[in-house]
This record gives sequence, C-alpha cells and structure tokens, in this order.
Amino acid sequence: MKAIVLSGGKGTRLRPLTYTGAKQLVPIANRPILSYVIDNIARVGIKDVGIIISPETGSEVKETMGDGSKWGIKITYIMQSEPKGLAHAVKTAAEFLGQDPFVMYLGDNLIGCGIEKFVDTFNSTKADAVILLKPVDNPQSFGVAQADESGRIVCLEEKPKNPKSNLALVGVYIFSPEIHKAIANIKPSPRGELEITDAIQDLITRGAPVQSHILDTWWLDTGKKDDLLAANTIVLDEWFKRDIRGKVDNSQVTGRVTIEEGAIVKNSTLRGPIVIGSNSIVEDSFIGPFTSVGNNSRIYKSIVEHSVILSGAELSHVDRLEDSLIGRNAKVRKCHDKHQALRLMIGDDSVVEV
Ligand code: TTP
Repeated sequence: MKAIVLSGGKGTRLRPLTYTGAKQLVPIANRPILSYVIDNIARVGIKDVGIIISPETGSEVKETMGDGSKWGIKITYIMQSEPKGLAHAVKTAAEFLGQDPFVMYLGDNLIGCGIEKFVDTFNSTKADAVILLKPVDNPQSFGVAQADESGRIVCLEEKPKNPKSNLALVGVYIFSPEIHKAIANIKPSPRGELEITDAIQDLITRGAPVQSHILDTWWLDTGKKDDLLAANTIVLDEWFKRDIRGKVDNSQVTGRVTIEEGAIVKNSTLRGPIVIGSNSIVEDSFIGPFTSVGNNSRIYKSIVEHSVILSGAELSHVDRLEDSLIGRNAKVRKCHDKHQALRLMIGDDSVVEV
C-alpha cells in the first residue's frame, strides 16, 4: 500500500498566514501539521509516500519535510500545477500510484488517533474505497455520506441543504486502483474542480463496494484561525509532557511545560500545557495554558494565554493577549507616548480586535 498526502491548494481561509507559507506547515504545538499526518502514515508501515505540492509553496514543503528518512519512509514530491480538485490531485499522482491501493490524506487534517483500524477495515472488507466519517452538528458545511446498517455507503452529497445523515467526510480515504477508472468518468463540478466525492459516487453507482469507517476520536480541519487554536489546545493537552531543556531562571514553571533547547525563561510564570520553541526568550511575563511559542521569539513584560505565536515574533508590554494567532516575525508592542494612539502596520486580510 502507498499513500498520497495533499499539500497543494490555495489556503484562502488562513490568510494572511498563507500569503507567505503553506497552510499544511502551520505549526500545531510547534510541529507542522504535515508531520502529524506523516507520523500516522508511517505508523501503519507504509514506506512509499507521495506529497502533492503546488508551485507556490512546494519548495517550502520539500525543505521542511525532507526525503522521509526521519520516519524511515521514502517521500516523492508530485507537482500539481493548479489546484483543480482532490480527484485531480489523484490523477496527477497516477504514475506514482501505479496499480497499488493507497491512502489519500488531506495535509491540513488532524485526527486524534492512528489509522490502523481504518486500514484493517479496508483489508477485511475488500472494498474499492473506504472513507473515514465523523458525526458532526452542522453536516450542511461538509461532504456527507449515508451508510446502511452494514456500514456500506449508499450515497454521498457535497454540502447538502437537507442532509440525509450527520456523517461528514473526514479528509482520509483508502482506495483500490478502481478509483482511477472512476476519476476518468467524471467531469469538473460547477466550481470547476474534479471532486473526489463525484468519483466515489461513480464507484457506488457502478455497484463497487464503498465502505465507511467511523472515527471515534476528535477531528480538526485546521483551515481557519479558531480551528487552529482548537487543534493547538487539544494537541498540547493530550500529547505533551513536561520536558525542560532550556534555561529557567527565577521563574515558576508549573504543569506540562516544554521548553526547547536554547530557550531562556527569566522572572516569569508559566502554567502548562505550553511549549516554548528553541532560542526563544520569555522575560518578566506570564504565559498561561494552551500557548505555543515558536522558535526565536521574544516575549517581554507581557501576559499571554491560549494563543499560537509563530517563530521570530515579538510581544512587548502587551497587557493581555488571548485567543490569538501571531504570524512569523510579527511584532506587537505597547506604545508609551502620551496620547496612546494605535499605530498599526497590518498585512492584507489581517484581523485586529482592540
Ligand atoms: P481545501 O481546504 O479544500 O482547499 P484549499 O487548500 O484550497 O483551502 P481554502 O479553502 O482555505 O482555500 O483542500 C484540502 C487539502 O487538499 C489541503 O491540504 C489542500 C489540498 N489540495 C490539493 O493538494 N490540491 C487541490 O487541488 C485541492 C483543491 C486541495
């Protein structure tokens, strides 16, 4: 079995962060989302992984993820010249995939468990497709599947007004090579994309077995700011331990706090779960639960809680920052002059709440 990971696309929902970088590389608890995806794929013993990249962010993805040796796998990069849909991405990877069954994993999805049971379902049912589903409260916003009592999929709908079930398609699929024939049969959708849901529906219509597997842990699509903060909170809460490798001086550090190599925490209070990236400096500050601070950042005389601060950012004299996402090398500082004006230089599509 092989795997493809989709790491192209536009990332419009995460602008402005995605003007300068790939959304799949945005860190959750200081690790790129793609690293968690590759962890799960490597754990089921898949050795051959193709990552679909775009001309805009492909080189950054390659540089960050490398050749796969870190995971004991081989990564092949496959260029998709335009984001023309998930089924188009499979088409682009056809030569890499050959006649092998494969896992298709969206590179911006995080799930709370491995995919071992999901692979078992594919092997035991001998289906041509197995799709991972999760009950949600707002199925209107997702691709939705209807299954019979045996878990066989009866139909699929994209963002239905009147959904027939509450089972949303999580971005992880397993396919037999039959999917290539189905993709050859479909036409672009009204939004101009080759939709994987149409290809799966084509399999169903032709009587091919398509099976469901229900995810019984959390699932987060990290496409938007609040999803990203939620993912950061869950990952810090569930997967992080206390691990202090940096220097702590005259500070109170309680709970599951990770301080990476070369970081310095001085005259500060830290309450976990928190991660402080390497070579960052926290001074005269309070950092509260569910905060990730990237590498080479500086936090000075500030109070921060439930936030993601990316690498190279700087906070200075910030009275209280909560539920925030601060981009790479961004600076937030209090101005000490008399009339207390706000002085802003903000990138396109930014949001500031004062
Ligand atoms: P989406 O989140 O559906 O699309 P997007 O990346 O264009 O994002 P946005 O809605 O914010 O504009 O894509 C899901 C994943 O699949 C994501 O990791 C990007 C990837 N993808 C491709 O690799 N190729 C494609 O043609 C498309 C549509 C998505």
